[in-house]
Amino acid sequence: MASTSGVPVKFDKIAKSFGVVRVLEELSLDIQPGEFLVLLGASGSGKTTALRILAGLETASSGRITIGGNDVTDVLPKYRDVSMVFQSYALYPHKTVAENIGFPPRSRSAGADRSIA
Ligand SMILES: Nc1ncnc2c1ncn2[C@@H]1O[C@H](COP(=O)(O)OP(=O)(O)OP(=O)(O)O)[C@@H](O)[C@H]1O
Ligand SMILES: [Mg+2]
Repeated sequence: MASTSGVPVKFDKIAKSFGVVRVLEELSLDIQPGEFLVLLGASGSGKTTALRILAGLETASSGRITIGGNDVTDVLPKYRDVSMVFQSYALYPHKTVAENIGFPPRSRSAGADRSIA
């Protein structure tokens, strides 16, 4: 997880449950601009869930997410300016790693409202 846009990213007591399964319990992170943060944990410990909540693809059960000091907890993914590379099925197999990572920003510069996979 990296803040490359020059703004801090903050998880403030983020919790997430799927039914009775509590995946995240008050996760708090303060990521400074330029900082590169690695989440390390056992399979099923909630790493992807935390990333999906940051990207807005999953709703937190409680807590707040701020990007650049703005509370984006209730902001749609497309307005968050967050890029996420999925760990498996959403990669483009015919593209290199660099091409997969570079695809969203390239698409955005080609047309602001163009929907990308
Ligand atoms: N949409 C969902 N519905 C129900 N349970 C879910 C959902 N998404 C994730 N989970 C559960 O939440 C827990 C955390 O999953 P998550 O994918 O965040 O773990 P992870 O740390 O990324 O694991 P891995 O290292 O295998 O990628 C797991 O028990 C998973 O089964
Ligand atoms: Mg994962």
